[in-house]
Amino acid sequence: MDGLTIVQHPLVQHKLTILRDRNTSIQLFRAVVRETATLLCYEVTRDLPTERVRIETPIAATESPTISGKKLVIAPILRAGLQMAEGMLDLVPSARLAHVGLYRDPLTLQAVEYYFKTPEDCAERLVIVVDPMLATGCTAIAALDRLKEAGVCDMRFVCLLASRPGAEAVRAAHPDVPIWAAAVDQELNDHGYIVPGLGDAGDRTYGTR
Ligand code: URA
Repeated sequence: MDGLTIVQHPLVQHKLTILRDRNTSIQLFRAVVRETATLLCYEVTRDLPTERVRIETPIAATESPTISGKKLVIAPILRAGLQMAEGMLDLVPSARLAHVGLYRDPLTLQAVEYYFKTPEDCAERLVIVVDPMLATGCTAIAALDRLKEAGVCDMRFVCLLASRPGAEAVRAAHPDVPIWAAAVDQELNDHGYIVPGLGDAGDRTYGTR
């Protein structure tokens, strides 16, 4: 699919298997979500612009690259995105955070907003939106709509797992927003869960069920 990158790295695929396994403990699930997000962060930031700066090593003066431009923003969709944001911050500790509070109405499967806060100048920054599960796409589309309303124009979406219909829906609604995922599953069940998926990422992270 155009605009969808599946991260095939063996470490990512190995960790995704741990996440899919229903016997994985909450403690391990939480740790592996964080580690996988760190690896996905490495991929999604692969083309960030750099500039050469003059520094001195203990041996000699030299020029060396640093990331240029404004610090990026990580935008977790609450609550399941929070643990992914931690994993990304492990790699990009100076990133800013935007919080997008959306929940999925269990009957309509539509996204309902309950919290929204972004850095003031987020319009001038690259925003990486994170949510472990891109299922129907409704929540992701609503989050991207809301961020665009707030002026954001440069976004990337990162998830652990996408459904094919969900990824297609997001790409159709926001063709300017590329997606990164560790895998794409073909189906959703009647409750909007990804099949085979990994279950409810929020509940498995926070031990709420
Ligand atoms: N949200 C989840 O946590 N899991 C799914 O499979 C779908 C949505």
